[in-house]
Amino acid sequence: MEKITSLAKRRGFVFQSSEIYGGQNGAWDYGPLGIELKNRIAGAWWKEMTQLHDDIVGLDAAILMHPRTWEASGHVENFTDPLVDCKKCKSRFRADQIPEENLLAKECPECGGELTDTRKFNLMFKTHIGPAEDTASIIYLRPETAQGIYVNYKNIIQSNRMKIPFGIAQIGKAFRNEIVTKNFIFRTCEFEQMEMQYFVKGGTDEEWFNEWRKRRWAYYEKLGVKMDHLRWHQHGPDELAHYAKDAYDIEYLFPMGWRELEGVHNRTDYDLRRHTEYSGKDMQYIDQDNSNERYIPYIIETSAGLTRNVLMILCDAYDEEQVADKGNDDDWRTVLRFHPSLAPVTVAVLPLMKKDGLSELAQDIRQELKEDFATDYDQAGAIGRRYRRQDEAGTPFCVTVDYQSKEDGTVTLRFRDSMEQIRVPKEELALRLRQEIKGYKRVK
Ligand code: GAP
Repeated sequence: MEKITSLAKRRGFVFQSSEIYGGQNGAWDYGPLGIELKNRIAGAWWKEMTQLHDDIVGLDAAILMHPRTWEASGHVENFTDPLVDCKKCKSRFRADQIPEENLLAKECPECGGELTDTRKFNLMFKTHIGPAEDTASIIYLRPETAQGIYVNYKNIIQSNRMKIPFGIAQIGKAFRNEIVTKNFIFRTCEFEQMEMQYFVKGGTDEEWFNEWRKRRWAYYEKLGVKMDHLRWHQHGPDELAHYAKDAYDIEYLFPMGWRELEGVHNRTDYDLRRHTEYSGKDMQYIDQDNSNERYIPYIIETSAGLTRNVLMILCDAYDEEQVADKGNDDDWRTVLRFHPSLAPVTVAVLPLMKKDGLSELAQDIRQELKEDFATDYDQAGAIGRRYRRQDEAGTPFCVTVDYQSKEDGTVTLRFRDSMEQIRVPKEELALRLRQEIKGYKRVK
């Protein structure tokens, strides 16, 4: 994880928030390569959920919601972690994450000092809206994007004539006052979620739950993630959230071990029932194709962390490799083996020399590729070093313009993973790149 954190900073993927002031715990900034990667991961998810599913539409709801939302959802009452503090070293722990013997002996696992009693700590950030800072002005930063979907479900049925079963997808920020925020961007106080809520008739919920588990697994396979680094974990009775009847996590083998990447939850009719109760509005679905039968739908939720997916994709892509063909034992390269559809830069154009018109020719080629691909241009330093820089940024293709290019109009196309190089007529570059992206198969 240290290597990934340091590469992320060095190459402009992720920076510590407010670093010049010593950093802000639980918050991170995405640099030029990081925002491209994050946008592409979000784009892949959005395409999967909306473009490839006729029965799912998108939404972008506000972060600030009426405070009653969070009473109805159960978050005011139940969204808590058990917390203990060390009276001596002032460290703070989640009671369920320290050894049981420490908890029983009330002994700090770090300094041996005395621990406080366990108390419940609500994870929602609370602030005030308007000029008066009294209880009437309390407002929360949303701890999940899901509730914005539930409160809009009737609007969407009416505006878009949706019929059950159907889904609503949303990507957006969520906030949690997390007690433990180690492991880089894994668990943060400000993060992004990619959530899809699928509305079904009660009685069909288990079938849809299994179907969505299959679809979400297949999605990661399609992204080229190492499948032996993914596994399912079913929530036991003590792990289930207050709204869930059944829940499975997709876990990824991060450098610190197996951890949750995404959850698939059967939320039953809990949320819509509670919103009916708290808002006084009728949240029933009217089935016009079935004698106007009325019922509160069940909800199958797929909930993935976008920022956690960024970390997963970085970990999954990270590789160090001895560059055998050089015959030099010290020659290692760091390479990010991103799927080309996720790579922040798809193709880098590199003139072999700055002089003799090579840089002008390379700039022209880049200009042409720009319309269709995310490009970079680099003319500084030895060509081998420039390849290494692109490998480290995860750029899957490099195009090198040399003296032969001036003579016969061909360029060198270099592949990041195999380091193989072939010559391609420059007019065929765009087509070839498109084919390579579509047919990409991860080899390592
Ligand atoms: N709406 C359901 C829900 O929010 P969750 O299991 O609490 O369920 C879903 O969160 C996903 O959101 C997690 O699988 C994880 O990827 C991401 N997530 C949750 N808390 C996070 C945090 N503090 N930092 C980063 N990602 C987080």
